[in-house]
Amino acid sequence: MSIPTPHIAAKEGEFAKTVLMPGDPLRAKFIAETFLEDAVLVNQVRGINGYTGTYKGKKVSVMASGMGMPSIGIYSYELFNMYNVDNIIRIGTAGALHANLHVRDVVFGMGACTNSSFAKQFELPGTFAPIASYELLQKGIDVAKSMGNINYRVGNLLSSDTFYDDSMGGMKWQKMGVMAVEMEAAALYMNAARAGKNALAICTISDSLVTGECSSSEERQSSFNDMVKIALEIA
Ligand code: HPA
Repeated sequence: MSIPTPHIAAKEGEFAKTVLMPGDPLRAKFIAETFLEDAVLVNQVRGINGYTGTYKGKKVSVMASGMGMPSIGIYSYELFNMYNVDNIIRIGTAGALHANLHVRDVVFGMGACTNSSFAKQFELPGTFAPIASYELLQKGIDVAKSMGNINYRVGNLLSSDTFYDDSMGGMKWQKMGVMAVEMEAAALYMNAARAGKNALAICTISDSLVTGECSSSEERQSSFNDMVKIALEIA
């Protein structure tokens, strides 16, 4: 398959080697307008805004992933395999599964469990363990440490196919030490592994399935900015 792809209209060379991926297209626009210099809109198909600009002189792109594994599966596949992107850093929100994780805390997804059937396509004779790029993870931790005011944890995520889950299935992963639930990291990590590329999911806790706490829109915005800064410094 060639460029442009069924879902991305950008021309060859219009994406940087590193792409930041929030779920929400308006967040992608906000990042481009607030943090990047000379940002150019490179994709608008289905409202999935993609931009390329520079951060501290380095070329960086930002494009939305949409919600869920099928959606990030499509965009990350096309970026890695058709646009020759090397690194994708997801920046999103997650629900805490641990009592000692609170809103605004940052979780670096060292691994991502899933209840989805995304891995079936690889026809492996067992269970694949989707993991982050060690290099991106280490850089992210270094940046978070140097920022000083970030309360971060490193561990396992659950990438769930359901946000509204009839059986509260997310809570069952707690006993295996899974820290937080979101909906995209596992597909991103699997596509990176298959393509021989690098991926990392950085999640801010927006709510807790344990305590019921929920972040305000202001908390969401400022913690989102912290996460963007971490991702941009890695890039
Ligand atoms: N479930 C799935 N994804 C999420 C959640 C959640 O509770 N909170 C933020 N993203």
